[in-house]
Amino acid sequence: MTQQNTPFPSTIETIGNTPLVELARLTRGINGRILAKMEYLNPGFSKKDRIARQIIEDAEAEGLLQPGQTIVELTSGNTGTGLAIVCGVKGYHFVAVMSRGNSMERARMMSALGAEVVLVNQLPESQPGQVSGGDLALVEQEAQRIVYERKAFRADQFRLAGNFRAHYLNTGPEILRQSGGAIDAFCDFAGTGGSFAGCAAAFKEFNPAIKCFIIEPAGAAVLSGEPLTYPNHRIQGGGYSMTDLPQLRPEHIDGYLQVTDDAAIQIARRLAKEEGVFAGYSSGANVAAALHLLETSCRGGSIAVLLCDSGLKYLSTDLWT
Ligand SMILES: Cc1ncc(COP(=O)(O)O)c(C=O)c1O
Repeated sequence: MTQQNTPFPSTIETIGNTPLVELARLTRGINGRILAKMEYLNPGFSKKDRIARQIIEDAEAEGLLQPGQTIVELTSGNTGTGLAIVCGVKGYHFVAVMSRGNSMERARMMSALGAEVVLVNQLPESQPGQVSGGDLALVEQEAQRIVYERKAFRADQFRLAGNFRAHYLNTGPEILRQSGGAIDAFCDFAGTGGSFAGCAAAFKEFNPAIKCFIIEPAGAAVLSGEPLTYPNHRIQGGGYSMTDLPQLRPEHIDGYLQVTDDAAIQIARRLAKEEGVFAGYSSGANVAAALHLLETSCRGGSIAVLLCDSGLKYLSTDLWT
């Protein structure tokens, strides 16, 4: 997406610098603006390409990753796709460990990009398309086993600073530049919390008055201290019911919002029909929460959101009927 006058040396350099678009059709009749960052236009069709690049390049710079070393990561598909692209171009073998509960388009895309994909069965009570914290714990166990067995580098998106840094150094500053700094709030559906944390840090540094809200699935809003009643929600890519997310900095969190499956799905469908934005469940959740803010505490404001990944990743689900 980056503007260019000469060819890029590789696909890796095309990551980031995605367009920022005003969702003026969805906000018709509502006082305020939603500015949406089209992260689904990255080469792997999600915002996670950014962290894949940052984590690998940080590890190379710090000498933590040796030439030829295998790279392993747990993924709901998007980080894995980003890592498959970055590792493919740089010549590392990449093993993606993913729950069978995530949509299969993702596994196919990662293997097409050269990754070795290891699928982990869900817990007996879990449903395909609804990956719970318990399912994710099984994926984590398998990822740890493979790292140990192959003496691999773990591109740990939950813990490594590259996740935060990708958004702090790039996504956040890009939004500030593209909006002329004119944003009042930011809300983001948290998985690892890296996108929220990095963007919020950049925004607060620029203007501490920018309000930053974490979005959680209704019934799995454990970060805000609510009881877990609905672990198997359908908003893929986050809401894992984990109370400890090391990427998050409490001082940057102004509040928490909740979005239902139904609201995320309805808004994802409206984004496609009314804005020409073909994005996934979590993008629907981000815009649904932004609309809620414009109707409540942020009336008349400008709210920044990320459109996290492409709707193409959900063709096998009931998002598109
Ligand atoms: C589609 C999608 N949305 C949202 C998220 C959450 O982003 P983060 O991990 O930065 O909190 C992810 C993370 O994998 C994702 O894949």
